[in-house]
Amino acid sequence: MSYPVVRTTNLRKSFGSHEVLCGIDLEIHQGEVVCVIGPSGSGKSTLLRCINQLETPTSGQVELLGVTVTDPDVDIDRVRRHVGMVFQSFNLFTHKTVLQNLTLAQIQVLGRSKAEAEKVALMNLAQVGLQDRSEARPDQLSGGQQQRVAIARALSMDPQLMLFDEPTSSLDPELVGDVLTVMRDLAQAGMTMMVVTHEMAFAREVGDRVIFMDQGLVVEQGPAAQVISAPETARAKTFLHRVLHPTEMDDSELGQTEPLDPKLDHDEWSASHPDQTSK
Ligand SMILES: Nc1ncnc2c1ncn2[C@@H]1O[C@H](COP(=O)(O)OP(=O)(O)OP(=O)(O)O)[C@@H](O)[C@H]1O
Ligand SMILES: [Mg+2]
Repeated sequence: MSYPVVRTTNLRKSFGSHEVLCGIDLEIHQGEVVCVIGPSGSGKSTLLRCINQLETPTSGQVELLGVTVTDPDVDIDRVRRHVGMVFQSFNLFTHKTVLQNLTLAQIQVLGRSKAEAEKVALMNLAQVGLQDRSEARPDQLSGGQQQRVAIARALSMDPQLMLFDEPTSSLDPELVGDVLTVMRDLAQAGMTMMVVTHEMAFAREVGDRVIFMDQGLVVEQGPAAQVISAPETARAKTFLHRVLHPTEMDDSELGQTEPLDPKLDHDEWSASHPDQTSK
């Protein structure tokens, strides 16, 4: 493929007078794993949604798999069927079995036979470690299992690009690992992926590139290890410090100007917990 899988050019999106994307230029190439990080409200979800035209950009261009999807004449459904999207909420059909969830679009959109669709579905269920749950209904599965079903459903459409919007944010902490493992395997198999995530360890390990967004702009981007471990801009530094050290408050939040004396802290704690302090 000689063209980028995704290319946006001066992409802008406003809701009313609020400009949420303020001119985004980016390219994602085949096989690349790009993680998008940034504060809440910075426009990460809107960017993903504009890329596959779930939102119509206000101006600018989006090319997807070599097709300029912002052209009004484009048959967006023909392009979108090659793009898998996984959301924070799994969006499974609750009254259908796992297998039916995976075969429905294959039959209706790709025109596969039921037998063929089931074969593909079972293969993808095996890939996410759920081959024995094909007859379960989503509400009989854990959140992590449901998210893996959602990934298997997207994979069953043979996507050329996978977009993930905080796929693990709604999961209990102990279920996050299985979903990230599936995504890591997918990346290693060469899938082109754009992942909005707060999982910095995942972004550092699996991401080829990290994009840091703030207030509708790409403020910083580069190799994952560099952006996460040695950010250059003050905004990225502040954000990453907050994410990587969530329990640490800075002086202004504590309402004092002097750093805490750790010894004082310990003495205060000992005084209020006499039974737990070794004498
Ligand atoms: N449909 C909409 N109508 C009006 N405003 C919207 C709409 N969708 C998003 N916004 C606004 O656009 C801004 C960016 O939202 P977006 O969901 O893209 O942020 P985000 O970076 O994904 O945040 P989070 O990390 O919380 O998911 C926010 O201020 C949000 O309120
Ligand atoms: Mg979001």
